[in-house]
Amino acid sequence: MRVVVFGGDGFCGWPTALHLSARGHDIVIVDNLARRNADVELEVSSLTPITPISTRLKAWRETSGRRIAYHNFNVAEDFYRLTSLFDDFRPDAVIHFAEQRAAPYSMKSERHKRYTVNNNVAATHNILCAIVESGQDIHVLHLGTMGVYGYGGGAAIPEGYLRVELLAPDGRRVPREILYPADPGSVYHMTKTLDQLLFYYYNKNDRVRVTDLHQGVVWGTNTEETKRDIRLINRFDYDGDYGTVLNRFLMQAAIGYPLTVHGKGGQTRAFIHIRDTVRCIELALLHPPKSGDRVAIYNQMTETHRVEDLAKLVSSLTGATIQHLPNPRNEAPENDLIVEAKSLIELGLKPTRLEAGLLEEVVQVAKQYADRCDRSMIPCTSTWLRQKQDRPDSETLQLRLNAVSSAQGGERPSQYE
Ligand SMILES: NC(=O)c1ccc[n+]([C@@H]2O[C@H](COP(=O)([O-])OP(=O)(O)OC[C@H]3O[C@@H](n4cnc5c(N)ncnc54)[C@H](O)[C@@H]3O)[C@@H](O)[C@H]2O)c1
Repeated sequence: MRVVVFGGDGFCGWPTALHLSARGHDIVIVDNLARRNADVELEVSSLTPITPISTRLKAWRETSGRRIAYHNFNVAEDFYRLTSLFDDFRPDAVIHFAEQRAAPYSMKSERHKRYTVNNNVAATHNILCAIVESGQDIHVLHLGTMGVYGYGGGAAIPEGYLRVELLAPDGRRVPREILYPADPGSVYHMTKTLDQLLFYYYNKNDRVRVTDLHQGVVWGTNTEETKRDIRLINRFDYDGDYGTVLNRFLMQAAIGYPLTVHGKGGQTRAFIHIRDTVRCIELALLHPPKSGDRVAIYNQMTETHRVEDLAKLVSSLTGATIQHLPNPRNEAPENDLIVEAKSLIELGLKPTRLEAGLLEEVVQVAKQYADRCDRSMIPCTSTWLRQKQDRPDSETLQLRLNAVSSAQGGERPSQYE
């Protein structure tokens, strides 16, 4: 198949592009390197030494004999680059990872909130609108999040849709199936709930075929393909904004830093290993909805865990100590989470469960690059409520913006305005 991977330089997009290329699909990556620029802004780097995208692509050509094309443009802004790409490449499918994906980053300041909304919602809308303009029947696969459902509620969370009964004026009960009520917990999560409505509309009005994958927190770092050559290594985020909970614990254990549990650690979250992420996307690509089908929504996760239990597990494997810190988020101190996730299993997914060997593998990667870790970047400093915010002074903010600006060759990208 011909596939465009939007956001194909990112943590999930890069291994997905390689996985699909290795299986004979013809891949084009579109990425404006916003994620690399966020590293410059935040003054932090991936724990693993990721190489520039041209080096990555060359390494892939040399190790696999296969080419991946690359375009650097902003999906949220360069609409006509999108339409020309669809006209020239005529993709069978597009995979949309190109969004600002960190909840803490989305809550840092009004600028980060506006950037996240403008970037994510416009990127999704531009892709859908360009597909309609192209007149082609292109399947859209989107990476959504389990966070669109909110956390808890006592009953199992279905895959996207909820059966309800409406009460008619004459007392009849009218059955309906509706999108599960959105309950975002951050500005980032809110953009994903807005994406859902965009998909609903373009599917209903223009019959665009869409698969929305509501993904859990991804852990692990490498896949079969990214391990083939050091230049293909995947990114590993550990900082307080982009690092996700389990990878952070594993990395903290590797460098002898106490595991940072926020509050009592009663938050329950859904998880998936990066190797399963790429398999799920492949399965969804190979099993698209038919024309006229409603948006297919799959819960892309393999297990749920309480944060405190994960910390205890990592501590028991590694001897790391646990540190309880005030929770910067505005969320329930504890929640249950029961999730239905049958669709991808029915399509053939064999779930990778959390087990000591895989956890140890991540600890080893983190140990290997421990000297690249800046410990001052580990604490979560972005807060959900304004009064809690420890804002950088204007001089620090300006220095960060200057750093981004010089990384861009002097021109500050509009998403940082
Ligand atoms: N990582 C996780 O744990 C996780 C969990 C659930 C859902 N997701 C979703 O999966 C997707 C990918 O996540 P990730 O972890 O790979 O994030 P990432 O930040 O590593 O990758 C996103 C990529 O998209 C690019 N990008 C962003 N905006 C763009 C734009 N306007 N134009 C072109 N490129 C743009 C970035 O430069 C980056 O390379 C996101 O949409 C995220 O919400 C991720």
